[in-house]
Amino acid sequence: MLLDTYGRVATDLRVSLTDRCNLRCTYCMPEEGLQWLAKPELLTDDEIVRLVTIAVTRLGVTEVRFTGGEPLLRPGLVGIVERCAALRPRPSISLTTNGIGLARTADALRDAGLDRVNVSLDTLRPEVFHRLTRRNRHHDVIAGLDAARAAGLAPVKINSVLMRGVNDDEAPDLLAWALEHRYELRFIEQMPLDAQHGWQREDMVTAEEILRSLGERFALTPERSDERGSAPAERWLVDGGPARVGVIASVTRPFCRACDRTRLTADGQVRNCLFAREESDLRTALREGASDEEMVRLWQAAMWGKKAGSGLDDPTFLQPQRPMSAIGG
Ligand code: GTP
Ligand code: 5AD
Ligand code: SF4
Repeated sequence: MLLDTYGRVATDLRVSLTDRCNLRCTYCMPEEGLQWLAKPELLTDDEIVRLVTIAVTRLGVTEVRFTGGEPLLRPGLVGIVERCAALRPRPSISLTTNGIGLARTADALRDAGLDRVNVSLDTLRPEVFHRLTRRNRHHDVIAGLDAARAAGLAPVKINSVLMRGVNDDEAPDLLAWALEHRYELRFIEQMPLDAQHGWQREDMVTAEEILRSLGERFALTPERSDERGSAPAERWLVDGGPARVGVIASVTRPFCRACDRTRLTADGQVRNCLFAREESDLRTALREGASDEEMVRLWQAAMWGKKAGSGLDDPTFLQPQRPMSAIGG
């Protein structure tokens, strides 16, 4: 079990498969990209599967999510999913992606054992997409979403980040569109995890603003609180349900008390929190031939050090060194 000193148990593992990305979202990274991890630093497919196996068979992890950067850029993704889906007890397996390339891979991923997918889409307007992501790929994302739904990767969730003066007027349109296409939409408050360290609290579009704007077009009723569990998204029934909309308000309504996450970076470091400033190195032990028992102990020790919360409201808050794109969200 992965327990911390506050009594939380991590059962949800997020594995970053690469720090690279084919978009350049302005709230994430600069135009020129970042200093990517070099190949020898990355865990190999076998190393990833070994660590996921330890997490699932010895540490009580029941949900595995693959993230990036952009995880579809990892050549071995389908094989990794297949090997993780063969584990017993079988974990649920999901993917967080920007959707580019999903149109080509959704069927193969489903056949390999992928259960569901979350796709980032911040706007319905191709020109705004281009401005936000610095790439003209809106159409590929829409095609990826279509393919994911057709492949039965249900529920297909959409993550939207609203940027003031760019797409903050789009919340109701995004929701109407998601309802029409049967996607579950969630809005995410922008977090101070960008590589440029340009986040400003005053610029962030808050959950309250998003709900006010949605409320002008839809009737929202809060979901029963016992349905939330440890999910970061708070959800509302739209016009009486069953459709729902979510808001991930990590800044203004943090859910750290219920956090059930542990994270593995593409270079084999355990992060016990999205905002952690320290990491625990599993890769060195792995490459020095450590036994499963030793890996279990290292991972448990990493989680034992988990802080109570993100520290976002502390006057001394400092952004983690590793940016969002290299943590995997
Ligand atoms: P579901 O299992 O479908 O609910 O996935 P998810 O929402 O946890 O994952 P996803 O990768 O789609 O992430 C959506 C947003 O939630 C991203 O902005 C993540 O950074 C954020 N998020 C995920 N886990 C955490 C967490 O432990 N803490 C905080 N603050 N945000 C998180
Ligand atoms: N704050 C909030 N969400 C972010 N994402 C990327 N960077 C940030 C940030 N600084 C979103 C992506 C993706 C999800 C994994 O996190 O748009 O949907
Ligand atoms: Fe890529 Fe995601 Fe960062 Fe956008 S937010 S640049 S899709 S890693």
